[in-house]
Amino acid sequence: MKFNILTIFPDLIYHYSQSSILGRGQKAEAINIQAHDWRQFSTDKHGRVDDKPYGGGPGMILQVEPIYLCLENLGLVKNGKKIKQPKTKIIIMDPDGKKFDQKMAQKFSKLENLIIICGRYEGFDERVYKFVDEKISVGDYVLAGGELAALTITEATARLIPGVLGNVDSLKDETHNEGSVEYPQYTRPDNFQGLKVPTVLLSGDHKNIEKWRKSATK
Ligand SMILES: C[S@@+](CC[C@H](N)C(=O)[O-])C[C@H]1O[C@@H](n2cnc3c(N)ncnc32)[C@H](O)[C@@H]1O
Repeated sequence: MKFNILTIFPDLIYHYSQSSILGRGQKAEAINIQAHDWRQFSTDKHGRVDDKPYGGGPGMILQVEPIYLCLENLGLVKNGKKIKQPKTKIIIMDPDGKKFDQKMAQKFSKLENLIIICGRYEGFDERVYKFVDEKISVGDYVLAGGELAALTITEATARLIPGVLGNVDSLKDETHNEGSVEYPQYTRPDNFQGLKVPTVLLSGDHKNIEKWRKSATK
C-alpha cells in the first residue's frame, strides 16, 4: 500500500517513517511512504504557499493552487475536478474532521493508495476541500500542523497490512480490535521489588492462562 503525504515539512515525515515499524514495512515492500512537498508547486517567485485571508483576520491561509498542482502531478485531479481512482482515498487533516479510530484504520488498510494532506498556519483555503474525499481529525485538540496526525494515521493503518509487523499474532486480542481490550502482560523478572507476576502465568497451563487473561482484561 502507498501512503502519499502532502506537506511543506517533508523531513518530519521522512525521518519518522524510516525508523521502527514503518521503516521495516518499507524495507519489506509491504508499504511505501512518500512525502510530497507542495511548496515545489508554488507559483510565487519566493516559493510562498500561504497568504492573508480575504475579509481580514489573523494568520495566514494555505493557498489552493500549489496543493491542486501537487495533486495534479500525482494524477489525482484534472481540469478542476477529482479523478476517481480505484482503491484510492484523499484525506485532509483537520481538527474539525471525522474522528480517526481503529475501525477507520482497518478500512484504510484495504486501500492501495492513501493520500494525506497536512495543513499548517490557520489552515486551508476552503476550495482545497473540493478535491478531497474526507476531512479527518485525530482528536479534539488543535496541533500546529497535520504531520503528526498524518503519521498517526499512517502508522495505525500500516501495522494492519500483512508484512509490516514482524509477528502478525500481535494484532490478535489487541486493544480496539473488534472492541476488545488487551489483557495485562508481564515479562522478566517474575518478582520486581515485591511486585510479583500472577502465578498462573508461570504455570505453563495454557488453558488456565487463557481463562485468566479473559477475566483479567484491563
Ligand atoms: C493550527 S491548525 C489550524 C486550525 C484552524 N485554524 C482551526 O481553527 O480549525 C493547522 C493544521 O494542523 C492540522 N491539525 C491541527 N489539529 C489537528 C487535529 N486535531 N487533527 C488533524 N489535523 C489537525 C490541520 O491540518 C490544520 O490545518
